[in-house]
Amino acid sequence: MPIAETAHEAQGQANEEFRPKILAFCCNWCTYAGADLAGLNRMNYPADVKVLRVPCSGRVNPQHVLRALQDGCDGVLVCGCHPGDCHYSTGNYYAKRRMMVFKRLLEFEGLPPERFQIRWISGSEAGKFRDTIVQVTDDIKKLGPMAADEPSQAVVAALRAKEGEL
Ligand code: FES
Repeated sequence: MPIAETAHEAQGQANEEFRPKILAFCCNWCTYAGADLAGLNRMNYPADVKVLRVPCSGRVNPQHVLRALQDGCDGVLVCGCHPGDCHYSTGNYYAKRRMMVFKRLLEFEGLPPERFQIRWISGSEAGKFRDTIVQVTDDIKKLGPMAADEPSQAVVAALRAKEGEL
């Protein structure tokens, strides 16, 4: 068997055993309700994602994302109401602009895009919530642990050092 194939298989096995730590910021009014509905409907999805309920996606600050990534999360997901459906009218528009710019900055500095994702999921979209969790978990599993991304970690640490300026 060729060495490359063996190494690839070994990497695949390592990633299969790898249980990523993923933090999902979920808006109370839509995505959290969608997660609740997925639970009520007994939909199965990976338990690697920890849901953190926030009043609105607009409440999530880039500092929260940085802190999660530096404190051991392998990926972060920010979820909110669909554009136009925010309980506070414009919170998700602010979140969209802020997070898209921040995501681009992180990617520019070397963070793989799969590590930080933004999604809009309503309270009735339990299936979409489940599919999102499955897809994000698969993405992160393929990448492996965050510690392996040395440049990204350095960037995260540098940005956190400047937290007050963000
Ligand atoms: Fe859900 Fe604002 S209340 S995104």
